Amino acid sequence: MSEKKSSKENNDSAVLSGDGFSINLPLLKGSLGPDVIDIRSLYKDTGKFTFDSGFTSTASCESQITFIDGDEGVLLHRGYSIEELAENGDYLEVCYLLLNSELPSKSELESFKKSITYHTMIHDQMTDFFKGFRRAAHPMAVMCGVVGALSAFYHDSLDIDDPQHRLISAHRLVAKMPTISAMAYKFSVGQPFIYPSNKLDYVSNFLHMMFSVPGEHFEQNQILTKAMSRIFILHADHEQNASTSTVRLAGSSGANPFACIAAGIASLWGPAHGGANEAVLKMLNQIGSVKNIKEYIDKAKDKNDPFRLMGFGHRVYKNYDPRATALKESAHEVLNSLGVENEPFLELALKLEEIALNDSYFQDRKLFPNVDFYSGIILKAMGFPSSMFTVLFALARTVGWIAHWTEMIEDPNQKIGRPRQLYTGSMRRKYSDISDR
Ligand code: ACO
Repeated sequence: MSEKKSSKENNDSAVLSGDGFSINLPLLKGSLGPDVIDIRSLYKDTGKFTFDSGFTSTASCESQITFIDGDEGVLLHRGYSIEELAENGDYLEVCYLLLNSELPSKSELESFKKSITYHTMIHDQMTDFFKGFRRAAHPMAVMCGVVGALSAFYHDSLDIDDPQHRLISAHRLVAKMPTISAMAYKFSVGQPFIYPSNKLDYVSNFLHMMFSVPGEHFEQNQILTKAMSRIFILHADHEQNASTSTVRLAGSSGANPFACIAAGIASLWGPAHGGANEAVLKMLNQIGSVKNIKEYIDKAKDKNDPFRLMGFGHRVYKNYDPRATALKESAHEVLNSLGVENEPFLELALKLEEIALNDSYFQDRKLFPNVDFYSGIILKAMGFPSSMFTVLFALARTVGWIAHWTEMIEDPNQKIGRPRQLYTGSMRRKYSDISDR
């Protein structure tokens, strides 16, 4: 375990003054990134709140897990660059790093892998739970329900104040997500569920549960397994995004980890967040051909048209998303290995990227491809239906969510999250009888 570090107060402070008040606000210094103005005493000292509805300038917590420099396109997990982790790491090694602050030794990794392997099965009664859904249900709808339901099955690890319970819940979540995800898929296509195999590593086991059928064993392709592992690593954590913040906010009330992760899955589902990978393929389908790109670029630039270039732009990255760079490389490797290098969606995506990056609208707003731009193309080539793309994101991100949830629960200064508001509704008024309205 690394030594517990925390933000330090700078000698500097920021002065905020207004109508009849002036206050010195401390500046906090992190280990990397901009200083932060500590406004925690603002309301008590001035009777005023700040307004930042999309959290564009607000740090909601202190964290030691992930660092992003959006201007430079830097992403570090516990200090290690995403490029190095994606190139050399194994997904469970990265999970261990996120959960435990340090890369594991050989024996630590072995015992972590063993624990994950032996938690992959789900309670048998949960299989009946799936059958309550309509076959046509979106797998993300099934994920929200089934992951939330884990809290109804694993009562023995729900005491959030017990470190051992927290650890078991974390391992259960990382271990069971591939099983639940594959079951959501199998249910949607009407195939029997495939049980996990303890002989296989985490990623191969997931592919086996997804693509094996009782009559035919799934042949693993090392290039595809490596690409899947890389996709999982690249999605493992991304500091305080909407879904992670949702998990923290849900958990701040003391809710159990399974319920909190289900809340994270719900938040991830939206097309502005994890749902974008599915939306990218829909968009490429809609564009259809290179000759139509200009028309769609014009639509994306038109403020009266709701169309946006999916897989482009990011709240934090104002440079190429480093995860997109790694995935672009994987897209070529996977398509090459499958002998579909001339996959029309890849050609379309490459051309779209080139045209957008040379257009002043995207340049001026610093809109670059994000992680979702290439992931869908790889997943489609691997045989995943687009409705599963966001499920895979949720599977991979679960470790990040649970690392943040644990960090929050272990923070002695943790309080329930309770934002305030700028009220713009009616003034106080008298109730009128229905006959007078
Ligand atoms: N296509 C066209 N214009 C865009 C796009 C886009 N994809 N993204 C942003 N813009 C424009 C906005 O219209 C705005 O223009 P304006 O300044 O003239 O009004 C400007 O760029 C800034 O955009 P905001 O919406 O203010 O940026 P914000 O940080 O709130 O949004 C977001 C970020 C949600 C990711 C946005 O870029 C988007 O909708 N992208 C498409 C969806 C997507 O790919 N999401 C995945 C994000 S990564 C992830 O969650 C894993």
